[in-house]
Amino acid sequence: MSVPDTVLTNDDLSAIVDTSDEWIRSRTGIRERRIASDKETTATLGLKAAQRALEVADILPVELDMIIVATSTPENIFPSTASLIQSWLGANKAGAFDLSAACSGFVYAVDMATQAIRTGRIQKALVIGSETMTRVLDWSDRGTCILFGDGAGAVVLEASPVEGGVLSAVLRSDGSGSDLLGIPTVGSYDMAPNETLPDVHRMSKMHMNGGEVFKFATRVIGESINQALDLAGLTIKDLSLIVPHQANLRIIAAAARGLKVEENLFFVNLDRYGNTSAASIPIALVEAIQQGRIKENDHIAFVGFGGGLTWASMVVKWGAPKPEDRTKALNRQRREAIYAFAFWRGRLLRLSRQINNLIKRIRPEQGRMERLRRRVDRQDFK
Ligand code: COA
Repeated sequence: MSVPDTVLTNDDLSAIVDTSDEWIRSRTGIRERRIASDKETTATLGLKAAQRALEVADILPVELDMIIVATSTPENIFPSTASLIQSWLGANKAGAFDLSAACSGFVYAVDMATQAIRTGRIQKALVIGSETMTRVLDWSDRGTCILFGDGAGAVVLEASPVEGGVLSAVLRSDGSGSDLLGIPTVGSYDMAPNETLPDVHRMSKMHMNGGEVFKFATRVIGESINQALDLAGLTIKDLSLIVPHQANLRIIAAAARGLKVEENLFFVNLDRYGNTSAASIPIALVEAIQQGRIKENDHIAFVGFGGGLTWASMVVKWGAPKPEDRTKALNRQRREAIYAFAFWRGRLLRLSRQINNLIKRIRPEQGRMERLRRRVDRQDFK
């Protein structure tokens, strides 16, 4: 995982909008969140998380077959954030694309990578959830700007003869709720001929109907976890931990009541990061592992929900191949060398394209002069 260093507390927020630490903590459970610096973007946060994931998995970037970045705050519509990260990593064998399913994006992306591995098409995939939500907040709307933060988390998935990994997944969407939560951008509708120019101030800022989203979230969490458990042939009693999307402590508490389980079956770290959208589940997963809440062969579940509307649950039998089981002795230095090579390769390619363009701009003039001289030689003035 990778989160920015800058912390924005509830008290800091109360200097920006009419709110208080007491209100935010009691309504959401959030105490503080991280804010990206001017130099940080979704891709740079995602890159750091990716490099750490490759280190934990002890594989080289060139071994990756696929990179998926789940995000709602990409650098561009295209090129994808995944392509930027692919080039910075030097993952020259990997396909790369972004996946847009809002706060459910990470679970969707893990399922896509899992299916690609299960068919035998690919062996190793890197799945990243990365967001710079604070860039798309309306800082005058106290109903939304208090909820979100920035960060990234990443996992490596790989084919394994050992039974386990992702056992089941339930991905759902209900686009009739598309008006409840979103980040409008300048898209095909706005750019259609004869349309008046879009209100750029409204564009790229998040809007949300908090109450409706709250009701939707509490309904789908329990429902979809039970569906995923059914598909895996398990019951809620088999789960040792649920890693939910970190939106609001009251949503998690309501879901726990609905499932008739103790609240502490759900891992919670939203108090320190707020809602980091597609990054929240992988960040929570990393901290759950660090805190010893997940052990080999545990059955755990992920559940995400958010804009679309979308939601997704997944049951996983936890197991990670240990680096010492590997035949190749991979090391940090080789990864560092690949990152350095990728960095300079990118720079040199861009530079050589710039030089080529410059030459092309000069050459036509030279060509014209040359032709003119030949015509003068031939006394051809027609
Ligand atoms: N500080 C202080 N007061 C606030 C406030 C804030 N940041 N935001 C709203 N209020 C006020 C409202 O203006 C309202 O005042 P009023 O009664 O005088 O009109 C009052 O608090 C209650 O507002 P309400 O919107 O009913 O609060 P709520 O208990 O529903 O909590 C949310 C609001 C946004 C925290 C809650 O609806 C929520 O968390 N929804 C889910 C959002 C979410 O998780 N989205 C992401 C999903 S991926």
